[in-house]
Order: sequence, then structure tokens, then C-alpha cells
Amino acid sequence: MHQDWTTQNIVVTGAASGLGRAICVRYVQLGARVTGLDLNEPALLEMQSTLGQSFSPVICDICDREHVAAVFERLGGVDVLVNCAGITGRTNVKSQDTDPIDVERVFQVNFFGSYLTSKAVLPGMISRGYGRVLHMASIAGKEGNAGMLAYSASKAAVIGMTKVQGKEVAGTGVTVNALSPAVIQTPMVDVMPSEQVKYMTAKIPMGRCGSLDELVAMVEFIVSPSCSFTTGFTFDLTGGRATY
Ligand SMILES: NC(=O)c1ccc[n+]([C@@H]2O[C@H](COP(=O)([O-])OP(=O)(O)OC[C@H]3O[C@@H](n4cnc5c(N)ncnc54)[C@H](O)[C@@H]3O)[C@@H](O)[C@H]2O)c1
Repeated sequence: MHQDWTTQNIVVTGAASGLGRAICVRYVQLGARVTGLDLNEPALLEMQSTLGQSFSPVICDICDREHVAAVFERLGGVDVLVNCAGITGRTNVKSQDTDPIDVERVFQVNFFGSYLTSKAVLPGMISRGYGRVLHMASIAGKEGNAGMLAYSASKAAVIGMTKVQGKEVAGTGVTVNALSPAVIQTPMVDVMPSEQVKYMTAKIPMGRCGSLDELVAMVEFIVSPSCSFTTGFTFDLTGGRATY
């Protein structure tokens, strides 16, 4: 698949770690202009020094509605938005033992943050007649992982939002899709209780975690101009765990 990325403005949230970071690195290699949003200033600055001028770091809490609106206003035309910022909150906890403050925070980042950033870019994409929005969901949002109420429910909300937005933009040249990975070893997974990670990995028929290379390759297709007849869909990256 050959695409010219050099004219594309790509925004990635959760850019400083894990999936978001790998996606930024890939798009800088492909010649795109990449803006990375994250809370983690030192990690973003370190990326800038490695990746050079094609990478612009923006310190931003994606839950802060005024700041998000101001950041996207300043950025101007965005061709591709990839929403990777996310948190698990406390895991390995039964629903009845969850802390409402923790549940609310997880929804704020995973659902509300992705809602805010997509709300900010869609009008410009629609008026220019082109755009790709990709929300990072999770297998947890499709299937529900026991011990992960807030995370699973917030990712299900992301999948629901994708269906709505995907249909709303159909025919405008813009697509909105989601991607549901199973387990990919990143700092997010590193800090989860090992019991919870074992539970998730044991459910993968291929018997292994996904790799960042596999993730990046799928993202590259979904947000490319070639992927033009799919919108509102949640792509699968689960080694056979989800077959729908
Ligand atoms: N790693 C996996 O196995 C896996 C599986 C399924 C889905 N996902 C999803 O993929 C996305 C990325 O996961 P990851 O494994 O790379 O996680 P990660 O913890 O390595 O990276 C997440 C990044 O998001 C940033 N972030 C958190 N809250 C933020 C906020 N309010 N504003 C701005 N930035 C914020 C963090 O600082 C961090 O840099 C998440 O949405 C996650 O739920 C990951």
C-alpha cells in the first residue's frame, strides 16, 4: 500500500507512551506532520528531541474542554485524529467494590476525552471533505472483562460513539472508526495486577499478546485514504478472541 503522508496533519492523543508513541514514530518516519497530545511533558519533550521538527508536542489534558478546544483551534486543519489517551483505573476489582470516583475518572479520560477531541476536529474535516478519526477502544468494550467495570464500560461507550459518529459523517469524505486490541505489552499493561493480565491473555486463542508492529500496521490502513468504505466500525486486533 503506497500512500503519500507528507501532506497530512496527524494528531495523536496519549502520544507519550505505548500505542500512541509507536503511532507517532511511524508517521514521522512516513513523512507526516505529527502533533502529539499528552499529560506527560518529559516524555513528550524526549520524543521531540528524538523525532525532530516533524513532531510537535502539546501538553494537554484531553478531559479539559476549554484547553482541548483551544488546542484544536490553534492546530487548524487536521487530516487524521488517533485517540490513544486512556487509563484502566483500578482493575481486578468486582463491580460492587469499585470506587465511584475512579469509575468517573476512567469515563472522563476514555470516553469524554475522545468525545471532546473528535468533536473539535469533525467540523473542519467535514467542511474540507476529508478526514479520518480513529478511537482506540478495547476488546474489554466488546466482551466486558471481569474485574474491569470502568474500563470495559467506558470502552463500550467509545464503540457506541464510533457507530454514531461513523454514520453521521457517512458521505462527507470523513470516516470514524475504532480499533479493539486485546493485550499489547505497554506501560499500561505493565502496571496492571498480574492476575488481571493473565486473565486477559488466557482468552486469546493465538496464545500471545499482540505486537506494536501489528497495531501500527492496522492503524496505518484504517486512517489511510484507501480505507474509504468503512465507517462506524470497530476493527479487531485480538488474535481470535473476537470474531465479530
Ligand atoms: N495496551 C493494551 O493492551 C491495550 C489494549 C486495548 C486497548 N488499549 C487502549 O489503547 C490506548 C493506549 O494504551 P497504552 O497501552 O498505549 O497505554 P499507556 O499507558 O502506555 O499510554 C497512555 C497515554 O495516555 C496518556 N494520558 C492518560 N490520561 C490522559 C489525559 N487525561 N490527557 C492526555 N493524555 C493522557 C498517558 O500519559 C500515557 O502517555 C488506551 O486507550 C488503551 O485503553 C490498550
